[in-house]
Amino acid sequence: MLAGKRILLIIGGGVAAFKAPDLIRRLRERGASVTPVLTAAGAEFVTPLTISAVAGERVHNALFDLTTEAEMGHIQLSRSADLVVVAPATADLMAKMAQGLANDLASTLLLATDTPVLIAPAMNVRMWDHPATQRNLATLKSDGIAMVGPNEGSMACGEYGPGRMSEPLEIVAAIEAHFTAGPLTGKRVLVTSGPTHEPIDPVRYIANRSSGAQGTAIARALAALGAEVVFVTGPASVPPPSGVQVVKVETAKEMLEAVQAALPVDAAVFAAAVADWRVASASGSKIKKVKGALPTLEFAENPDILATVSQMQTGRPGLVVGFAAETDDVVAHATAKRQRKGCDWIVANDVSPATGIMGGTENAVILISDDGAEEWPRMGKDAVAARLAERVAGALA
Ligand code: CTP
Repeated sequence: MLAGKRILLIIGGGVAAFKAPDLIRRLRERGASVTPVLTAAGAEFVTPLTISAVAGERVHNALFDLTTEAEMGHIQLSRSADLVVVAPATADLMAKMAQGLANDLASTLLLATDTPVLIAPAMNVRMWDHPATQRNLATLKSDGIAMVGPNEGSMACGEYGPGRMSEPLEIVAAIEAHFTAGPLTGKRVLVTSGPTHEPIDPVRYIANRSSGAQGTAIARALAALGAEVVFVTGPASVPPPSGVQVVKVETAKEMLEAVQAALPVDAAVFAAAVADWRVASASGSKIKKVKGALPTLEFAENPDILATVSQMQTGRPGLVVGFAAETDDVVAHATAKRQRKGCDWIVANDVSPATGIMGGTENAVILISDDGAEEWPRMGKDAVAARLAERVAGALA
């Protein structure tokens, strides 16, 4: 499956570097060639001799290496690959990538390359959770860097949590997926996600609790199946996925405009928690507090984006999927909502606080279509997204 593919593998300095020889072996078994680059820290965990022996190629480890520069300059090295893989991608390497630092061979190659890059992060859970790493991660994602893992589990340092590097076979699967045409290749899909912010005045707004996690997972899952994804997102608290076209908006009206600009599409999934109302006459200047006088807000109805697209006479997407977040009589309300808005499917869920779904990592949904109501077991939002993406692919096939 990877026959003839050239992988430039950058091995960073983490305990997970011990998995690099296995990763190289498995890539070569599948027909790929692997050019290894070992950072100085990486060489503390795995020797150049081991790496070059399994790769069947010499290891590159110095920026100013006369032999390499004479044979193939480092710029060329970074461009001659079909894919650059960073495994393990340490917190340090990710920080360098996010900042565009180039003070050793690995970081210079990453800055000089125009080849797609896939990273497999690996670090201690506190380093992973640190705001600096999360900031860097968001930057890398918006730069279009693809990522596999990290997994949650126990670590070499004795702690437990996210930060363990994906296993070699998981990394191989991500690499294969990168090179494989999926069932949605050639299809253009729109996804709305996140909350909207409706201004009261220049500093205040009305919002809701949507994190954007489910919509983000759906966009990622659709892209993983090969779709060209336009991701229209309100101010979400999770970073947008990599490898999709991100359009950031604030209000429902802006979201509608962005959605209309993205059409035509083959399918549209409306996962955003759009505010039903906006403040009718938002103040252009900050409303001052006047002792004893309470402001009154008048509301106006926002456009219903899902209904607008579902009811388009011409150019309607082939498949329109809405969401229904309910707190009671879920199926009845969602079925009525599907009728009223005119969409093809409704993904309904119970968002009562007790379920922990709003802002949580899991979801329990019911898919309502012409075929009736199909209850899915409670699972991670990523798993819901993967299953929904498969169904979208099936419907568009
Ligand atoms: N939706 C939309 N535009 C709006 C409101 C909702 O596109 N102005 C979409 C959402 O993205 C979701 C679906 O409509 O896919 C259902 O949203 P929901 O808020 O549950 O529906 P409402 O029509 O607002 O019904 P209610 O709040 O009364 O339950």
